[in-house]
Amino acid sequence: MKILAFFGGARKKGNTMAMLNYMLDNLEGEKEVINCYSLKVTSCTDCRYCYTHPECAIKDGMVDIYRKVKEADIIIFAAPIYFFGTPGPLKVIMDRFQVSWASILRGDKPEKHTKKGAILMSGGSPLFKTQFTAGLLEMSEALNVYNAEKMGQVLMDDADKVENLDQRPEIKEEIVKLAALLK
Ligand SMILES: Cc1cc2nc3c(=O)[nH]c(=O)nc-3n(C[C@H](O)[C@H](O)[C@H](O)COP(=O)(O)O)c2cc1C
Repeated sequence: MKILAFFGGARKKGNTMAMLNYMLDNLEGEKEVINCYSLKVTSCTDCRYCYTHPECAIKDGMVDIYRKVKEADIIIFAAPIYFFGTPGPLKVIMDRFQVSWASILRGDKPEKHTKKGAILMSGGSPLFKTQFTAGLLEMSEALNVYNAEKMGQVLMDDADKVENLDQRPEIKEEIVKLAALLK
């Protein structure tokens, strides 16, 4: 079982990484975490090369990512909310998933979900109705274009008051339940 996790946060020792580590501790398999902040990836230029070719015209850090995503059985996105959405470096990577979205135009989209996916998010503010809406939608669609069926999400609100995941036992419980669905 190959597990590929995209870590989209700026703080390597923050709450999002704590959630991701806890999730990975509860999963068995070959695990790899991609730190989006450390990748050299150019923004999508909407050149539309992928409308007619099953690859991206830009040959940069994404070449490896495309291969890893294709090989993965499980894809996890873990990101804090930045201004309602996902942090910039992760958004740049997800925009480059356009090559897979364009399979609809090329006519080579696989019919079924072949992978499983999950989303972990943290937000500093106490919970409000649309706190996670935008970021969750972005990452859900990123899973979808790579044929990963989203098995669920764990959303930690009020995260700025949290110094240790042990302070949020309900979040730990939700992560264990979500990990079980990925197996
Ligand atoms: C640029 C920026 C924008 C943010 N925007 C939001 C926001 O829109 N909603 C929210 O609830 N928290 C927001 N936050 C707070 C972070 O989501 C919160 O601190 C999060 O838990 C950080 O994750 P980390 O501990 O993994 O670094 C923002 C933080 C930053 C740095």
